[in-house]
Amino acid sequence: MQAFEAYLSSHLPHAKSFHPHYEAALHEMLLAGGKRFRPALLLGVVKAYNRLLLDSAYAAAYAVELLHTYSLIHDDLPAMDNADLRRGKKTLHVSYDEVTAILAGDALNTYAFEILSNAAFSDEIRVRLIRELASNGGLAGMVLGQAIDCHFENQALSLEQIKLLHINKTAKLIAASLKMGAIIAGKKALAEELYAFGIKLGLLFQVQDDILDVTQSSQEAGKTTQNDGDKNSFVTLLGLAGAIAEADTLASELGEQFKGFDERLYDELSPLLLGYLARHKA
Ligand code: IPE
Ligand code: IPE
Ligand code: MG
Ligand code: MG
Ligand code: MG
Repeated sequence: MQAFEAYLSSHLPHAKSFHPHYEAALHEMLLAGGKRFRPALLLGVVKAYNRLLLDSAYAAAYAVELLHTYSLIHDDLPAMDNADLRRGKKTLHVSYDEVTAILAGDALNTYAFEILSNAAFSDEIRVRLIRELASNGGLAGMVLGQAIDCHFENQALSLEQIKLLHINKTAKLIAASLKMGAIIAGKKALAEELYAFGIKLGLLFQVQDDILDVTQSSQEAGKTTQNDGDKNSFVTLLGLAGAIAEADTLASELGEQFKGFDERLYDELSPLLLGYLARHKA
């Protein structure tokens, strides 16, 4: 992912002005790192099928990471999860103020689409990528998930409702990352197959994240943990052992499906995916 990091560093959002910290705030969470799971998925699919497209694909991978980073900045706001640590750093509303965090999130959200609109693809591919990112990251995707997540604090939802919450909040953006890789690689049928796989992978990712909220310290996680007590998390619903069992089931189903992928895709994604399938066991 070194080339991705270099791309990100050389395409940071710029807004030079007399504002004392607006531009620094735009950069801070992007440069603080994070696992870069979504860009790695997108780039892995492209690498499996056509390495010549990689240079253009960095823009799409970066767009996904921008939208994801905006979602984290807003997720941590006092009105949402009220968290003071993210990616090993103080959250933006703590370092600066709430206005700065809200606006930095807004700016990264729209910058994602600016980056995508300038990516070196045909108009048709560019529009399809923009549509995937907008529809999965937006009003009937991640934002809907966040709305349900926050509205139903301290109100128990059913397992089906909780799955729907987490499919929207987390899984759709992960599924879109895989699908966008397939769109770039020109693999139409694979795009749908990977999207379905990605939804299940995203659910696993969130179950694991809910487990980490209770098993890791804030310092270990680099973000505020022990913070889901009011949430419809998988741990709240199933208990820790139940959530681990749910993660095991999802991971073994995903592992089976993954083995059925064609060899190029399997070889390219397995270093990344096999680690994530076992993440809740670490
Ligand atoms: C955290 O995402 C929010 C969830 C959807 C669970 P990540 O765990 O991918 O966070 P970073 O990008 O590594 O910081
Ligand atoms: C947030 O889920 C998912 C987003 C859309 C950002 P969480 O609230 O569980 O994420 P963390 O644990 O704060 O990273
Ligand atoms: Mg949240
Ligand atoms: Mg949170
Ligand atoms: Mg969490």
